[in-house]
Amino acid sequence: MTSSVTAIAHPNIAIIKYWGKRNETLNLPAAGSLSLTLGPIGTRTTVTWGQNSDSLTLGGQVFSGRELTKVSRFLDLVRAIQPGLGGAEVVSANDFPTASGLASSSSAFAALAVAATRAAGLQLDEPALSVLARQGSGSAARSVCDGFARMHAGKRQDGTDAWAETVFTSNHWDLRVVIGVTTEAQKEVKSTDGMNLTMRTSPYYQAWVDSVEPSIDQAMEAISTRDFARLAELAEASALQMHASAIAAVPGVLYWRGATVELIHAVRHWREREGVPVFFTIDAGPHIKVFTHAGHVADVAARLQQVPGVVRTITTQPAPGAATVSP
Ligand code: PMV
Repeated sequence: MTSSVTAIAHPNIAIIKYWGKRNETLNLPAAGSLSLTLGPIGTRTTVTWGQNSDSLTLGGQVFSGRELTKVSRFLDLVRAIQPGLGGAEVVSANDFPTASGLASSSSAFAALAVAATRAAGLQLDEPALSVLARQGSGSAARSVCDGFARMHAGKRQDGTDAWAETVFTSNHWDLRVVIGVTTEAQKEVKSTDGMNLTMRTSPYYQAWVDSVEPSIDQAMEAISTRDFARLAELAEASALQMHASAIAAVPGVLYWRGATVELIHAVRHWREREGVPVFFTIDAGPHIKVFTHAGHVADVAARLQQVPGVVRTITTQPAPGAATVSP
């Protein structure tokens, strides 16, 4: 019997960052993190079991190399839970560019985890889905969740306690995140490579790890009381501390471009001199993501577009976790 299920998942942005793995094979993080799932952009994936072999179509293009191997290994995890499924046909598409500065792997593996398990007749709960998605990509563990997600680093070797949970749902706070895209090029250093080099060689890495859990607790408090100014302080500190630890690696891992630095100054100027409610965060790339209130989003997007080096903006808002859709 073949069974086909379609799922949609959204990418997420970390407010308190994840940077470093305690186990690379299982994608076990060295510390926790805190994120917000962002829509309406997302990944839509259909999985159909009962095939002779696995196949992968991404954005209308058939893939057979490294990408298919990664997906097949992930599907093996589902086959280990439910033997006899055979091969799977995986058809997936993102409705946002992969070079947008948002981790497309976060929505990709969250959507695949939901579609593959449901098509196999399995009904996994949020922690089990998160553990599964994490094995595709560390940040995907958080895209299973609705709105704000707290990722637990866990202690177990098998990773069964390293999962993300929804801590405040997407309707808790009407925030917006405007992405300032600074280049259409793919990032130069993959996050896993940047993390590993930072862990191995940065004298600041341990200080970074030690700072994460207290920052998550403080950010949870700021989110619960919708304290924008406090969250601004904590989120910018987390992003800058993550990048500081990476820059201190040997050789230094530097994801920023000139436009990134200009944007940091611009966002701070708007907030401190002009009273605009904004704060920034930066992932493993040169783009900047700017948080604001819903009522200020048009103004913030227009301001970002005027900063030299910004090629375009994408506006996003809190979104639900990965879920199936009717075919
Ligand atoms: O799991 P990955 O490879 O998408 O790594 C994510 C790393 C950062 O985006 C820089 C931080 C984060 O917590 O998402």
